[in-house]
Amino acid sequence: MATNRSGAARPNGVSQTKVCQFRLVLLGEIAVGKSSLVLRFVKGHFTEYQASTIGAAFLTQTVSLDNTTVKFEIWDTAGQEMYHSLAPMYYRGAQAAIVVYDITNQDSFRRARNWVKELKQQAAPSIVIALAGNKSDLVANNSHLRMVEVEEAEAYADENRLLFMETSAKTAMNVNDIFLAIANKLPKSEGGGAGTAGGARRLYDGEQPRNHCCK
Ligand code: GTP
Ligand code: MG
Repeated sequence: MATNRSGAARPNGVSQTKVCQFRLVLLGEIAVGKSSLVLRFVKGHFTEYQASTIGAAFLTQTVSLDNTTVKFEIWDTAGQEMYHSLAPMYYRGAQAAIVVYDITNQDSFRRARNWVKELKQQAAPSIVIALAGNKSDLVANNSHLRMVEVEEAEAYADENRLLFMETSAKTAMNVNDIFLAIANKLPKSEGGGAGTAGGARRLYDGEQPRNHCCK
């Protein structure tokens, strides 16, 4: 019979679902669709009239893997340049980041590469970074609108060991998938080798979850 920290007995062989909590930050230029991706993932909604984010917004969502529930604490940052200096507050201590660009806007891809560079220099060394080329719906019937080739982004992502998907917050294409891919890549064990940000930490019975915990 196994015992947990509170002393309660657990029958051997009974597998328990682990709950892991991770902080995830979204970064990217203004209007690339960061908030829209989060709202699609968390609430299943999309609006053409999404207001520009002021400062940052906080949301949570869980995803279920085979024997782990991953709870994301999501910081959706503002893309306006005047908020750039706030970004480290959100990405320091984050275990995951989604850097978003708009595939119809080459400059937003350049900006995304700068965010990746900044994360590699200043975030936790073990941070899991995903690159999302958003607004894929816009090029479905208008290929001339595409300004960033998928091969170019893929090659960049491979070189920098990033997860990469083209997404559409509007049609929901690859939105759950990109969060799921991140959830799968995050270390779930205590300590988890997640460097300075720490990996998932297991929660003991009766303990309230804080950042990046497992139970
Ligand atoms: P900031 O908060 O200002 O940094 O912008 P953001 O990156 O959060 O972008 P937001 O989600 O506010 O979206 C900006 C605009 O793009 C809105 O009008 C959205 O409706 C639109 N948009 C977002 N995602 C998509 C998408 O996948 N496809 C299309 N067609 N439009 C999108
Ligand atoms: Mg926003």
